[in-house]
Amino acid sequence: SAIAKDGYEHFMLKEIHEEPRVVRETMFSYVQDDIDQLVASLPDLSKYQQIHIVSCGSAMYAGMIAKSLIESAARVRVDVEIASEYRYKDPIYDVNTLVLVVSQSGETADSLAALLLAKQQGVDTMAIVNVVGSSIAREAKYVAYTHAGVEIAVATTKAYCTQVALLSLVALNLTYVHGKVSKAQANEIIKEIQQLPDMLQHMIDDVQYVKAAKIISRHNNVFFIGRGLDYALCMEGSLKLKEISYIHSEAYAAGELKHGTISLIEKGTPVVAICTEERLYEKTISNIKEVKARGANVILVVREDLQVAQDYYDYKISIPKVNRLIQGIVGVVPLQLLSYQVANLRGCEIDQPRNLAKSVTVE
Ligand code: G6P
Repeated sequence: SAIAKDGYEHFMLKEIHEEPRVVRETMFSYVQDDIDQLVASLPDLSKYQQIHIVSCGSAMYAGMIAKSLIESAARVRVDVEIASEYRYKDPIYDVNTLVLVVSQSGETADSLAALLLAKQQGVDTMAIVNVVGSSIAREAKYVAYTHAGVEIAVATTKAYCTQVALLSLVALNLTYVHGKVSKAQANEIIKEIQQLPDMLQHMIDDVQYVKAAKIISRHNNVFFIGRGLDYALCMEGSLKLKEISYIHSEAYAAGELKHGTISLIEKGTPVVAICTEERLYEKTISNIKEVKARGANVILVVREDLQVAQDYYDYKISIPKVNRLIQGIVGVVPLQLLSYQVANLRGCEIDQPRNLAKSVTVE
């Protein structure tokens, strides 16, 4: 009903608008102003030398962001696996492997089976879950909750956003306990975390996503490109678009385009390029030039301080600069609102896309 939607046209839009609040509630329940609070509130994972993040759908793409952060900042090995593959592949474990299952519902059949498999092999498990007391939460050795509240739209937005937020805290914690950042540096990042809700609010209120959505809405093929952390964001951006707008889209590591996919770029093909990785952005810019030269219409999602000449994009969305360990959280909002506006322009059943279920509790 309209009342439950709080005046919003769709639950998805309402839930995106809840992101500043639920990110605050999730992150502040683990840390407010000092890294020692974070160390005390998360399980001690310092002994694990290898982490298998196992999940499905958007939760797995949140895991890909975590891999990028944990490997580069904490220098701990992370593998991200699709639960339906993992459960049948006879995984290789070390003495110090942790299996980390990420799940909004805590009831996804493949994710639960993967967790039970690890348990049965005597491997330690952890769950990052939104629903308190769910099966995955009950079976895992350690649990850390996201605080997204009830999510009604089938395509996840706020729950995924809080998964990225909590996984970013896990990455910060591991980086600190492995001695890769000082206490002072960690506390600087926590100061930035305090600003995140306002930044998300700004991304929701102050950007014109409809204009960018019009570039996409009449096409049947879209590409998302980026490198590193941005590639992980692309995976979720692309999935969201497919789920609710029924436009075929593909996320590509920007440097891999030349090995095949670039053959699909023609005049007018929309390409969403994400550039928040400072170290890699010039590389991504040269990939953008390549698709632009073949007629692509480029929507550039770029960290505000990185300069890109106007010739290389058709529409630009700027996102605030924060420490890389929490940058993924700010990158989530524009992709969700872009997909939402595209689906809206196409008149889709946004909250209940065809063939999809909120929680897949059978195999
Ligand atoms: C379904 C939902 C997705 C979700 C996936 C994993 O496919 O439609 O939005 O990402 O399940 O769900 P979970 O509850 O385990 O996060």
